Amino acid sequence: MAENNQNEDKNIKGFYRTITYGCQMNEHDSEKLAGVLQNEGYQPTTELEKADIIVLNTCCVRENAELKVYGKVGSLKEYKRENPDLLIGICGCMMQQEEVVQEIKEKYSHVDMVFGTHNIHEFPRLLKEAKEVPKTLIDVWEEKEGLIPDLPSRRESDHKAWVTIIYGCNNFCTYCIVPYVRGREKSRPVKDIVSEVEKLVEEGVKEVTLLGQNVNSYGHDFDKNIDFADLLKELDQIKGLARIRYMTSHPRDFTNDLIDTIANTEKVCQHFHLPIQSGSDRILKEMNRGYSQTEYLNLVKNIRKKMPDAAISTDIIVGFPGETEEDFAETLKVVKEARFDMAYTFKYSQRSGTPAAEMKEQITEEVKKARLQRLMDLQSTISDEKNQSLVGKTVEVFGEGESKKDEDKQMGRTRTNKIVIFNSDSGLTGELISVKINKATSWTLFGDLVK
Ligand code: 5AD
Ligand code: SF4
Repeated sequence: MAENNQNEDKNIKGFYRTITYGCQMNEHDSEKLAGVLQNEGYQPTTELEKADIIVLNTCCVRENAELKVYGKVGSLKEYKRENPDLLIGICGCMMQQEEVVQEIKEKYSHVDMVFGTHNIHEFPRLLKEAKEVPKTLIDVWEEKEGLIPDLPSRRESDHKAWVTIIYGCNNFCTYCIVPYVRGREKSRPVKDIVSEVEKLVEEGVKEVTLLGQNVNSYGHDFDKNIDFADLLKELDQIKGLARIRYMTSHPRDFTNDLIDTIANTEKVCQHFHLPIQSGSDRILKEMNRGYSQTEYLNLVKNIRKKMPDAAISTDIIVGFPGETEEDFAETLKVVKEARFDMAYTFKYSQRSGTPAAEMKEQITEEVKKARLQRLMDLQSTISDEKNQSLVGKTVEVFGEGESKKDEDKQMGRTRTNKIVIFNSDSGLTGELISVKINKATSWTLFGDLVK
């Protein structure tokens, strides 16, 4: 565990638990919350009954995530009853919605602090105040203000780290709540990112994942002419760093220059996550995505031409308002043509405040469910075929530690972001190794270490 904690055991003030919902952005924010808590003298615990501080970092991208959060907050009441000194905090995307904060205030008075996505750097102050103030402390900002100070992180891994490069999103896809809760795009200065990565490398990190809702917009808000490709070139120079990943890119903004940069740099991984959302031109327009099916497929073609071994993954929404059987058939067609290595598939979820939520022809739950199943079945066959084609090949794997399912085996990832379970002794965590693949399923590769 990478712990920026200078406290000796005797100084432990208590225990904390963070519970995170949603994307990597939230995971990374939770690492910062944990970093703050460790600096304050708290230690992590997995047992809720032992915790003195519990923080829920929430997601509102789909209704399911929100329901889970409400369920969890409700269940924390009994812990507060057992331990009246317990401090409960809720933060993240859900808290940027006024009606949610109102509901928490009215129905969940056992919550001590509520804050949003723009002021997690205020967490140390809020924590101090919440200890003194008996009622729910609420501090949610509309936008990021001023300079955003860096917070210490408590990373889950010694060898991998997330690095935020751009906050917010300006795209306003019509189904998506993110621009409303994460605010406008704001890029971090190149020098801050480079020095953060250099520091991480000094601490033993070998792989960084650059984070942003739309990394391709990086630098567009600067006066200087700097873009995402330039940032990748800078980071590629850092000695001791082995791999660079990034999440998420927008197909509309994926330039040929960027493809060339990725092909020509040493460390940037050949994994492209390009959310298509739908294959139908009509629906793509309604979604405000800014590309057509043909443009998307050309992008896939260009990537494969330059990097035949690259992996391409995607996000797809089924049941967007007005989606007909013909529209859905277009999505299936693109999935067959693009042959994604992997797809994250979702049923459309109505998010109040977004334009799509107001659209007339909402699709029934049964239709969404049936389409999702057909899509998942198709993708699982393609993922399986793609992975089978790697059997017998030797791939470069970055060791990530023991396999969760089988502690006698090790787990790692290929440059293309595929999970590999392999036979070997431990001690290869954080190392680049060669593994010969001998078996594959839709989701996982299995192999043996090549001596
Ligand atoms: N309903 C379903 N899926 C959604 N996503 C974003 N908003 C919604 C919504 N309202 C999906 C998109 C996005 C991923 C992170 O979540 O596919 O790429
Ligand atoms: Fe949401 Fe679209 Fe922005 Fe992605 S690009 S966060 S889907 S609005």
